[in-house]
Amino acid sequence: MAKPAFVMAASTAVVVSLLVVSCGIGIASAQAAGLKKGFYKKSCPQAEAIAQKVVWERTAGNRELAAKFLRMFFHDCFVRGCDASVLLDSPTNTAEKNAAPNLSLAGFEVIDEVKAELEEACPGVVSCADIVALAARDSVSFQYKKNLWEVETGRRDGTISSDQEALSNIPAPSSTFDILLINFSNKGLGLQDLVVLSGGHTIGIGHCNLFSSRIFNFTGKNNPSDVDPSINPPYAKFLQGQCSRNLQDPNDNTTVVPMDPGSSLSFDNHYFVSLKAHQGMFTSDATLLTNGRAANIVDKLQDPGVFFHSFKNSIKRMGQIGVLTGTNGQIRKKCNAVNSS
Ligand code: HEM
Ligand SMILES: *[C@@H]1O[C@H](CO)[C@@H](O)[C@H](O)[C@H]1NC(C)=O
Ligand SMILES: *[C@@H]1O[C@H](CO)[C@@H](O)[C@H](O)[C@H]1NC(C)=O
Ligand SMILES: *[C@@H]1O[C@H](CO)[C@@H](O)[C@H](O)[C@H]1NC(C)=O
Ligand SMILES: *[C@@H]1O[C@H](CO)[C@@H](O)[C@H](O)[C@H]1NC(C)=O
Repeated sequence: MAKPAFVMAASTAVVVSLLVVSCGIGIASAQAAGLKKGFYKKSCPQAEAIAQKVVWERTAGNRELAAKFLRMFFHDCFVRGCDASVLLDSPTNTAEKNAAPNLSLAGFEVIDEVKAELEEACPGVVSCADIVALAARDSVSFQYKKNLWEVETGRRDGTISSDQEALSNIPAPSSTFDILLINFSNKGLGLQDLVVLSGGHTIGIGHCNLFSSRIFNFTGKNNPSDVDPSINPPYAKFLQGQCSRNLQDPNDNTTVVPMDPGSSLSFDNHYFVSLKAHQGMFTSDATLLTNGRAANIVDKLQDPGVFFHSFKNSIKRMGQIGVLTGTNGQIRKKCNAVNSS
């Protein structure tokens, strides 16, 4: 009989997040021992090539997939570790993917396609958690036709996915620096990782409702002059133009704006150039300039070489968060459901 994997009382979720808070660093480094480069070299030598082939084909047809998979990897790793819990469907709509921060999560069907090909080639060997990690690297790298970072593999799949845990572990776009720093350090990531990984916002889109208060209602006056003074005025005008419906309906969650305008399909250090010019979309972006050490890192990341090198290191650490390895977890047969026996 299948276990009711998704039924998780709110109280349990709170206990779990407290545990992660108190020993996040320990978990991340201890379990990362089970990961290594080329984990499938013997057990499924074609695994990484198959994943890359499918992901590149799909990304060629839809360049926005790079942002979808990069963000999917972030959300997977921040909730219960990188265990593919973000992929699980729930009959009661209470899985991670059903929580509000899921706005714009997508690409699940491509993950399923990769999984189907891998099950054909090497049944029961390659985890969905590793497929998510590979899809992020491969879709982002498609633009350059070469791997931008190395992916350690050997993750195994979790069996639990909870919308409550998504809510309590995915930082809100309204977060300020001190909060983000705590949220990242709870995952074993430091200030450098926070700044560098925020550079993920060099690709993709954001929904207007997530930042409309910054451009229309910063101090509660609710008019187009009531703008967050930390935003560069022409950029604020641009956002207001894109999000004009949100002046009437701040909850309108249908309109989207590119996060790094003019460069939102290109994975590069341009996010940090825009950020330094006070063109960060969310409070969580702008706030990186409010701390001296973080602002100093933003300065260093104006150099593309420094950016690519730093991103490699930080995303490797992100990919180690709370992983299941060895005999923990399982290798799912299908990525959207736990195994039934
Ligand atoms: C620092 C804390 C972070 C916050 C508060 C945050 C918040 C957000 C929000 C609110 C969106 C817009 C979603 C939407 O409107 O559909 C977004 C998009 C995105 N985020 Fe983050 N994020 C953070 C860190 C990261 C990290 C670490 C990565 C990956 C390295 C990442 C990658 C992305 C990508 C690629 C998108 C675009 C998604 C798309 O185009 O559909 N974010 N983020
Ligand atoms: C995201 O959450 C919303 C609201 O709970 C839900 O309607 C939607 O189906 C979810 N999206 C996905 C991809 O599951
Ligand atoms: C968007 O807003 C509508 C209505 O306010 C709401 O029902 C829906 O769940 C929202 N979608 C997401 C993904 O938050
Ligand atoms: C981030 O940290 C703050 C301060 O400890 C906490 O209140 C909040 O719940 C955390 N949020 C996430 C998403 O981890
Ligand atoms: C504007 O902000 C104020 C104060 O935060 C809030 O009470 C009000 O509901 C907001 N108005 C709109 C239309 O969002």
